[in-house]
Amino acid sequence: MTNPPSDPKRPLRSARWFASPDMRGFAHRQRTQQMGLRREEFMDRPVIAIVNTWSEMSPCHIHLRDVAEAVKRGVLRAGGYPVELPALSVGEVMVKPTTMLYRNFLAMEVEELLRSHPIDGAVLLGGCDKSTPGLLMGAISAGLPAIYCPAGPMANGQWRGIKTGAGTHTKKYWDELRAGNITPADWLDLESRMTRSIGTCNTMGTASTMTGIADAMGMTLPGASSIPAVDSGHRRMASLCGERIVAMVDEDLTPQKILTRAAFLNGVVAYMALGGSTNAAVHMMAMAGRAGVALSLDDLAAVAKRIPVCANLFPSGNALMEDFFFAGGMRALLWKLRDHLSLDCLTVTGRTLGQEIADAECYDDDVIRDASNPVVPLERGATLALLRGNLCPDGAVMKSSAADPRLLRHTGRAIVFDSNQQMLAAIDDPALDVDADSVIILRNGGPVGAPGMPEWGNLPIPKKLLAQGVRDMVRISDARMSGTHYGACIVHAAPEAAVGGPLALVQTGDMIRLDAVAGTLDMLVDDDELARRRAAWTPPVNRYERSYAALYKAHVTQAPQGCDFDFLAGTATVPEPPIY
Ligand code: FES
Ligand code: MG
Repeated sequence: MTNPPSDPKRPLRSARWFASPDMRGFAHRQRTQQMGLRREEFMDRPVIAIVNTWSEMSPCHIHLRDVAEAVKRGVLRAGGYPVELPALSVGEVMVKPTTMLYRNFLAMEVEELLRSHPIDGAVLLGGCDKSTPGLLMGAISAGLPAIYCPAGPMANGQWRGIKTGAGTHTKKYWDELRAGNITPADWLDLESRMTRSIGTCNTMGTASTMTGIADAMGMTLPGASSIPAVDSGHRRMASLCGERIVAMVDEDLTPQKILTRAAFLNGVVAYMALGGSTNAAVHMMAMAGRAGVALSLDDLAAVAKRIPVCANLFPSGNALMEDFFFAGGMRALLWKLRDHLSLDCLTVTGRTLGQEIADAECYDDDVIRDASNPVVPLERGATLALLRGNLCPDGAVMKSSAADPRLLRHTGRAIVFDSNQQMLAAIDDPALDVDADSVIILRNGGPVGAPGMPEWGNLPIPKKLLAQGVRDMVRISDARMSGTHYGACIVHAAPEAAVGGPLALVQTGDMIRLDAVAGTLDMLVDDDELARRRAAWTPPVNRYERSYAALYKAHVTQAPQGCDFDFLAGTATVPEPPIY
């Protein structure tokens, strides 16, 4: 027995393949029956792609095969025909030099998978950092109805009675090991105990930030981003995604209809209240560029000045994603922020955000705070501080809420490294001329320079300073930083050094002045001297004459534009593939 087909109000896109009376149409039907399907199981039914970023190199996505089965149940129940399409996993931990290099690869793959196959709508399975923007960018550009099904965060972790969060505590205990406060045996013990379950990082890293933003923008079922991967409710949510996407095809509810500027600004409000990762400042620009929505770093900074960190999660706070879920999750947070949101924005349910959060409740006012009782008061730091000055004329960002407040206004002497390898080789040298007031700078870590803008920006604190008790310093780079990390790290300096940005001109010994409150970052070097240095500057040698990295370097935009490829951004129409 199969459920009756759904009732699309218009011809299905997939009918171009399946309903055609010619020889090609015969081949499409014949080959589908080759897989054991009866004609009535796929003819006249919305074909739903389940774009699956499952991989055995991605622990955060290892359960997505099971999740896909739950999605299929929902699709079949609603009268659709589900097909699973594997896509690049971009698992944050294993992929080198950085998953950021491959975000656009995934986005391109998703767009072309959906375009080139007989697909009517898509459920997108992902969650680990870059997979959310990659999947959404591709789906926006493909222009078919799509719903995002986040992988879900891992369960809470504890080590020796202390709550431990993925990423945040790796970094914390690494510093304690280097400072001699824990033993190598402790470190080994931590290795097997920190990550208890499947799922994405349980801190407010990039994964939770981006899935939360997708939720607030209306691209997931309301509240879906907070459900832990191991919770039975997660599979029920996945099944509902499958059921709902079939109706979305009938309604022709495409991402373009959901992702208006107001929806993006709702995403920005959620980003700031979550105390989200600086990475979101890049990904939001890229997604907005695909949707044809004007969005700038200044838009983000303006919201950051109004909305403090309300989610009490590591690294800004002290709870984990499972606590956030039990406290009511994204729906509760959005309900508390309702006065700052455009409640008439449409969501994938076909209802408005306001309708979807109207009955939300918060069960723990410490984990999900009111804006009047924030985790970090705005005077003490924001989720995102935008900086400009002669070191970063196009902008640089920092998560000032996760920095030592003492450093938000700081002047210090620069110690400059030209590469990550050079820095790692020198940073723990006892002879390094550095003190707690120094400003450590890393260049050539940007989108073109690295290439791919790796998460090198949480520059290590020299071992001899760690031993003295120093735990934060001003650090500057054109790279990115993991959302799970913390500290006075200024990242995404643009333009980057490798394309001749002024970061290329700074020298060890220059004085650097940061005022994160006023939004400025300058090297105190006069213009004549900078002009002399510029005249002597030569671009780094290009080590990539072929490969995907060569394509990436040739077409990637700078961080304030989202690091998309120039030929993928925008909303120009791409012709449907001819079928013959
Ligand atoms: Fe995958 Fe953090 S490593 S979400
Ligand atoms: Mg991360």
